[in-house]
Amino acid sequence: MEAILENKQLQGATGIDLYRWGFRIKNNPLKTYVDMHETFGDMVWMPWPGKTCLFVYHPDLISYVLKENHVNYTKGGQYDELKPLLGEGLLTSEGELWRNERRVMAKQFHNPAIEDYTKIILDVTSRKLNMPSGEFDMAIVFNRLALDLAGQIFFGADVDQFSESISEGLTYEMEKVNERMRSALNFPLAFPTPENMKRRKILKNMDAVVASIMKNPSEGKTNVLSSLMKSGEIPDKQIRDEVLTLLMAGHETTSNLLTWITWYLSLYPSWQTEVREELKLTGKKASELTRKDFVNLPKLRAVIDETLRLMPPVPAFARMTMKPDVIGGIDVPANVTVVCQPWVTQRDGRWWKDPLAWTPERFIDRPVLRDDCTFFPFARGPRSCIGEELARTETVLIIAKLVELYEWTLVPGFVPEPVHHLTLQSKNGMKILLKTV
Ligand code: HEM
Repeated sequence: MEAILENKQLQGATGIDLYRWGFRIKNNPLKTYVDMHETFGDMVWMPWPGKTCLFVYHPDLISYVLKENHVNYTKGGQYDELKPLLGEGLLTSEGELWRNERRVMAKQFHNPAIEDYTKIILDVTSRKLNMPSGEFDMAIVFNRLALDLAGQIFFGADVDQFSESISEGLTYEMEKVNERMRSALNFPLAFPTPENMKRRKILKNMDAVVASIMKNPSEGKTNVLSSLMKSGEIPDKQIRDEVLTLLMAGHETTSNLLTWITWYLSLYPSWQTEVREELKLTGKKASELTRKDFVNLPKLRAVIDETLRLMPPVPAFARMTMKPDVIGGIDVPANVTVVCQPWVTQRDGRWWKDPLAWTPERFIDRPVLRDDCTFFPFARGPRSCIGEELARTETVLIIAKLVELYEWTLVPGFVPEPVHHLTLQSKNGMKILLKTV
């Protein structure tokens, strides 16, 4: 396979260098991704034993893989690590099964459904986002809020009913999946290591919690679980996989986005004022907003997009070639993991002027286009994020509420440390001083 590097257009590492790069990715992925692009260019070939990777950074190459020739790509083996938790849900399934699930699940995220979820978001946010002035770790606040929302929207359950068991279980399981995805050697879950025993217990517990909610689905309130059960379109086991998938895919991503927005708005307080003024001009309180009002909140939406650009909650994701392909004029064999990284492409000076500066105004002049692979925080193509509209709706409503209630600054001396686990988190949280306005 190293022969592929003889082609002058494609660069990458071989021999001991290959392991050096692998080691660097394990230790400091975010910096290493950028260094790889700077060192090798738009296509980087890394033939690690057992897992050959091709990193693609140019928007045309990304578009080819995610859209133009998506039929030749699966999610690939690394998503198998998620299967003990998520089974064959939307994020991990393939082929006909995935197509059917996507069709069924899309109905849960079309406009009328999102309107119903909007009411839940407003209600939960008003009740939960009511801290007095003082110091808070907003990463924790948002994590809990996003979990409350996920509980209501996906399960119709008051999160207190299951929050501790689900939240702790999910955090532990995600941590382990992240470690396993980056490790060359993993014991299968059936192997009785202390870690596996703990994981098995957690998974059993989560199954029990979901099963008990399914036995008494919440009537009267709109939620994905009861709507799927009523529709009878997919069997119960599949419903379990889908709702856990939504919980896993939708809760940490959204809470990380909220956390990074809060950070940028504390670095740029004039933007807090701009967004607050814009909200006042709608003539409504944050808790009265509907999605129709979003068109009158261009600054707030630009703040969200600019944060998604610089701090994408999913900094990297992968596909795998099913058959040999030709990407950017280069022959690529079957079973190669092709990695796309919003983290790198969205910070590339060829597509973004002054790329590392957080300047939301750029999104006021440049609306987000569906086809644009210079900006793809929710991926692109048929396997793009099914929850994009919901995530955007949650984020607009929660940040609107936050600017309405508070002014805030960073706790003096606090510097967040971005880390790439499965999502882009701040390792040391987000220490903020809130002052009610
Ligand atoms: C800011 C928040 C979010 C971001 C940045 C985000 C980003 C992404 C990305 C990049 C993918 C593609 C992943 C891959 O191919 O490996 C994806 C897929 C997915 N997301 Fe999201 N997501 C967010 C919120 C949500 C929410 C709220 C939900 C739940 C409703 C959700 C559910 C999903 C599902 C089910 C998939 C798999 C879709 C499929 O394969 O057909 N996401 N998301």
